[in-house]
Amino acid sequence: MIKKGIILAGGKGTRMSPLTKAVNKQLLPIYDKPLIFYPLSILMLANIRDILIIVNKGQLNQYKKILPDGKNLGIKITYIEQNKPKGLPDAFILGEKFIGKNNVAMILGDNFFYGQNLSTKLLNNTKLKKGAKVVLYKVQKPEAFGVAKIDAKSKITKIKEKPKKFFSDLAITGLYFFDNKVSSYAKKLRPSGRNELEIVDLLEIYRKKNILKADLIGRGGAWLDTGSIEDFYKTSAFVSAIENRQGLKIACLEEIAFNSGWINKKHINNAINFYGNCDYSKYLKKLIKNP
Ligand code: DAU
Repeated sequence: MIKKGIILAGGKGTRMSPLTKAVNKQLLPIYDKPLIFYPLSILMLANIRDILIIVNKGQLNQYKKILPDGKNLGIKITYIEQNKPKGLPDAFILGEKFIGKNNVAMILGDNFFYGQNLSTKLLNNTKLKKGAKVVLYKVQKPEAFGVAKIDAKSKITKIKEKPKKFFSDLAITGLYFFDNKVSSYAKKLRPSGRNELEIVDLLEIYRKKNILKADLIGRGGAWLDTGSIEDFYKTSAFVSAIENRQGLKIACLEEIAFNSGWINKKHINNAINFYGNCDYSKYLKKLIKNP
């Protein structure tokens, strides 16, 4: 079982400027919570409780204000600063010591997932022993993402970053599962034309060895974008629609921790004091009244 996870939450944030001049993108709101709550909730639902968050140099204090060390959630959070956005595989170079002798999951700080049976799917993917696994999702504009082509047996036959020419509509989402070789492979990579280490180059190493697997999120699941300001609004509207319809919150971290038995009522009361008088606290109050 994969027990360690990385959230890559740095990046230039240029596409969302001026919003991201003073605040990191992952701390901006998706409806009623900071964006980072959503990818963190995904790792927690995958039963991953040892988490490394990689942030931009100089932005550590912003993050620690909202997500200190994880104790309040019954998990362990450590931070590393990335000097500059050298590309996604840099996470495995910076995180080499954190990964140690383990396998690891990585989620990009700006990725949003939602859907029935998602937790079961996640838990299933953490069973990975050897190789790597990507999560694919059909999209209308594959040219905006890393793209994979699969054959009839769901074997990946081709991958490419933001392909100009269409060859598949399956985007590679920002959720990956890797075996312990990942750091040593990442260190072998050379920067691409846009001067970044590319995740597809890392995945290609696994593909060539025939140990790159794919998991598919079907049409009942949602993988939404938070790449642009417009996407932020659309994803916020999605969360608002679901939450207000059901009266249940998406990515309420304390709820996940409480329902998993990692924290107790005392922790929830501390959280209510921490957040203050707000809708999120009211939700937490209800949670400990009728668990
Ligand atoms: O969202 C899925 C896509 O994410 C994949 O389909 C692509 O294959 C993958 O390359 C990536 O594409 P993006 O163009 O969306 O990557 P972006 O540069 O926007 O970075 C994604 C997140 O990672 C973002 O929250 C910023 C953070 N980041 C990025 C880089 C390059 C870092 O923290 N450090 C970095 O060095």
